[in-house]
Amino acid sequence: MVTFYVEDEDGERQSIEAPGDMGLSLMEILKASDYPVLATCGGMALCATCHVEVVEGKDGLGDASDIELDQIDNLPNPTPTSRLACQIRISDDLDGAVFRLKGESN
Ligand code: FES
Repeated sequence: MVTFYVEDEDGERQSIEAPGDMGLSLMEILKASDYPVLATCGGMALCATCHVEVVEGKDGLGDASDIELDQIDNLPNPTPTSRLACQIRISDDLDGAVFRLKGESN
């Protein structure tokens, strides 16, 4: 199991555990854990409602694709470590990473 964290606006961190060997995306895990991620496009890197800021652990995530980078460029509130959660695969490299949700609910 991989453990990572979601940080809220008060800096409080909640841990999430997920299997690292099933090819699930971070978006799928966030939705399954009842976080408010709309994911309108179903994980196609088209809606950007799964926008997250990577607070810690960026190196374990791999590079964003051009499609992902284009979507992030078009966001009203991008950060230097913005990613789309649907494009991040859960793997052991994610262990200890910290994310902030930046999608529609923020
Ligand atoms: S779910 Fe639509 S871009 Fe990630």
